Formats: sequence, C-alpha cells, structure tokens
Amino acid sequence: MDTYYFTTPLYYVNARPHIGHAYTTIVADVLTRFHRLFGADCFFLTGTDEHGENIAAKAAEAGLEPQDFVNGVSDEFKAAWKDLDIHYDRFIRTTDADHETFVQKMLQKIHDDGHIYRNDYTGRYCRGCERYLDDSDLDEEGRCRDHLKAPEEVSEANYFFRMSAFQDRLVRHIEENPEFIFPEAYRREVLGFLREPLHDLCISRPKARLTWGIDLPFDDDFVTYVWFDALLNYVSAHGGPGTGSHDRWWPDVHHLLAKDIVKTHCIYWPTMLMALGIDLPKKFVVHGYWNINSGKISKTVGNVVSPLDLTERFGRDAVRYYLMAAMSFGQDADFTEELFVERYNADLANTLGNLASRTLTLTVKNFDGTVPASEPGVRERELMSELEGLRDRMHEDLRAFRLHKVAQSPVAMGKVVNRYIDEHEPWKLAKDPDRREDLARVLGMQCRCLRVIAGVVEPVMPDLSRRLFEALGEPESTGGEIDWNLPEAGRSISVVPPLFPRVGTKAQN
Ligand code: MSP
Repeated sequence: MDTYYFTTPLYYVNARPHIGHAYTTIVADVLTRFHRLFGADCFFLTGTDEHGENIAAKAAEAGLEPQDFVNGVSDEFKAAWKDLDIHYDRFIRTTDADHETFVQKMLQKIHDDGHIYRNDYTGRYCRGCERYLDDSDLDEEGRCRDHLKAPEEVSEANYFFRMSAFQDRLVRHIEENPEFIFPEAYRREVLGFLREPLHDLCISRPKARLTWGIDLPFDDDFVTYVWFDALLNYVSAHGGPGTGSHDRWWPDVHHLLAKDIVKTHCIYWPTMLMALGIDLPKKFVVHGYWNINSGKISKTVGNVVSPLDLTERFGRDAVRYYLMAAMSFGQDADFTEELFVERYNADLANTLGNLASRTLTLTVKNFDGTVPASEPGVRERELMSELEGLRDRMHEDLRAFRLHKVAQSPVAMGKVVNRYIDEHEPWKLAKDPDRREDLARVLGMQCRCLRVIAGVVEPVMPDLSRRLFEALGEPESTGGEIDWNLPEAGRSISVVPPLFPRVGTKAQN
C-alpha cells in the first residue's frame, strides 16, 4: 500500500490565520484526501509554533502570560481549519509536553555526540527572523531581505551546532536526489546557498534575553532557538526513531512549505537530521506566495484576508477551490476579490452549479424522481472516454504536484458535459413525447457524469461532493474509481437548492 506523510509548517501564533496559512493547509488536506480516495495510507500533520521572542513580545503587548496567549491563538488556527473542513491527523503545538521532552532528548544527544559547542559570538541578528543573518540574507543595502530592516549587532555567549560539518554531505544528497526539493527552481536556490561556506548554527538564546522557550538540557541559563525546537516537530509528532509510528510514517514524509522558509527547511533541518542519525525527508514541496493586490500580506498594511470572512460570504468549498485553482503551484499569485468573484461565477456557479441543477431538475421532473433506464450510444461513449482521459490527466497532475490543474479538472469535466447537454437540449426533447427514449439516454448520461464529478471533486470541494452524492441517492462517496454503472436506473434522486448562487463583489453589492 502507498504511504504518504504530509506536513505543513507550524504557524507562528503571533499572527492570526490568513489565506497564506490556509493555502498550505488546504494543499495538505487535498493531497491527503486524494491519496486516501485511491487507497493510500496517509498521515497529515499541522500545528502551531509557539515559543520565541516575537511571541513573548506579542503576549506582553496583549497583557497576557505567554501560555495563555498562545492557547488563544492556537485555538483560532484550529477553528479556522475546522471552518475550512480540513481534517488533520494531529495538530501539534511546540508547547505540547511530549514535543518539549523530545526536543530536550535530541539536544542532549547531539551535545553528547560532540555536535554542539559553546562560543562567544558577535553577529547580525534579525528580530523578525529570530536568527543571525549571513551575507546571503541581506539585500544591497545590508537589510534583511524579508523584513527590510537592518539587523542589529549582538554579542553574547551561545551554543552552536556544527552545521558546517554536514555541508558536503548535504550537497551530495541534493545532487544525487533530484526529487528531494521540488520545484527545481527552489532546488537550484538551495544549491546556490550551499556554494558559500555554511556557518555553524546558533541554537540557544540566553535567558537574560528570553525565557519563553525550551531549556537547554545541558545548561539552564539558556533556552533553545525557536527553529531548532519547531523543526523537530515533524519527528516528535510520532515519538521519534524506535517507535512503530515513526517507522511507519517517516520514510514517506513530504514537507509542504512556501518559499519564505526554504533555507531553514532544506538546509538546517537535513543537517540536524544527519547529526541525529535520522534518515533525510523524502521530499520538500515548495510553493509560492499569495500577495494581495500585488503587495505582501501584512497586518501593518492592513490587507490581511481572513479565510473566515471568505467562507462566510462564499462558502468553504469556494474558498478551497479558489485557493487551489488560482495559484500555479510553485509560483506567486495575486489575490483580489474581483478575481475571486470572477472565477467563482464562471467555474462554480455557471459550470458545476448549472450542470447539477439542469441535470437533477429535468430528471426529477420527467422521470418521477428516478434515474431513467438507458443505454449509452456512440456520442455517450465518446463523452465517457473524454471524462476518463481528463481523470487520467488529473492523476498525472496530482503525482506531479500541479495542484492548480488538479483542482481545475472537475470544472473541465463539467464543461465537457455541459457541451453535451447544449448539443442535445434535453429541455426540448422533454416536450416531444416521441423522443422519450432519447431523453432517457441524455438525462441518464447526465446523472452518470454528475456522479463521476461528485467523486473526483471530493478532495477539493467535500461539501459539493456530499451534496451531489446525496442528491443522486448515495449517502457517501464510494472511492475514486469511475463506475459508469452508477447511479443505476430506478435510483431515487432529488433536486438540490442552487449550489453556488451567483455573487457580486462587495463593491457591486
Ligand atoms: N513557524 C515557522 C515555521 C516553522 S516549521 C517547523 C513559520 N511560521 S509562519 O507562520 O511564518 O508560516 C510560514 C508559512 O505559512 C509559509 O511557509 C507558508 O506555508 C504559509 N504562508 C504564510 N504566508 C503566506 C503567503 N502569503 N502565501 C503563501 N503561503 C504563506 O515560518
């Protein structure tokens, strides 16, 4: 049996969930649902990253103890994922007791194995990144590329991980495993970073400066650097090497992330795993950034789009569909309400919603609420093979992580079926008593096609799938394979209220 272990980054709780976080989490949910539909064994891990300076500062700003503050925001992430119908297998928090114990055990291990040393250090520290920067992190003006702020010069004693010792092995691994980092552009970016000598990694913060973290087990004047703590979640979630759960999932781990955290994931994390003697991940799957009206999503700019607002207005399926379909996987995309509404009306209201309503309404009206008995003719067989072709392509796209194509596939199928309906005009056939058999053939075919679409659409739009199966008299999806014998003749079906009522933008309303 195929096995997949999908992870998302653990989101910092110093921001509320927005569509950027929602995107990665929906991608993980869609991949998990798809692979499960085809019988694979899947585990989906997401969660929140709760330690560190930035979060301690936010808690202080809110006048709360850090633990109370992080509990609240972490719950908001869970609520957002529930609202979006995201089904994870574990929501891990870096403040979970089992995670904290695991991090200390791993720190002690690499300390005992000689991979950690103490040193006085002066470096360029970016508070936003919560790490020391090197030349490749700075722009021409010497500012942090991500935060557009000059780093501060900080001098302090700290503990360092001998990351540099693993540089050659990491380069070899990336060169010998072209599939390790996907897409290729990010693999080249990582190899580019690795052309420069890798520094050792500062993995502690003095308690004099920060207490909100996991204590170093070998020196309690220090807490662990947030990234060293957070990255370990991918392994701690299963209890670590030597547990059945680790052996079952770790060999098939796929880390999903956006381009902002490629360096920490594709460089820091593999070298940490090498030091710990744990196998490297199977794959890093990197996507681009959602921008809003061409700008970065930022609280300061005030352009944060909350997934909750969108689901309230358009329904969760529409949000899941739009985010998946409108971003070419791996590239950046621009979010605007106009584009959202345009795609919603074209793909969901006019294509899938219309297909469902004209199939179910006409069938219920003309055949007493049952699927008519009929035999497919030449044109119907052609339509069936067209849909099978689209389904096969969808599977290829899925394996190649072309997730925008995967999401668009059921809509492409809907268009093909709508064309068939326009050609045959069943509403006209219904008026001619001599053409009952033709009407049964066309509407029977429409019902079968609608069922096929209800099946393939499930991973991206689970509500739509459920409602279509219910309308077609099946309580739930029966798997990913196409079965043209279903729904069988005589099955009771029902009309659904408009699935995706047409909408306007806020400005138009
Ligand atoms: N806490 C670290 C990750 C630790 S993982 C061991 C972190 N957190 S974060 O809250 O900043 O999340 C970054 C991730 O959120 C991105 O890699 C991506 O998955 C998602 N996104 C956040 N903003 C995004 C966009 N504007 N567009 C697309 N995805 C974005 O980094």
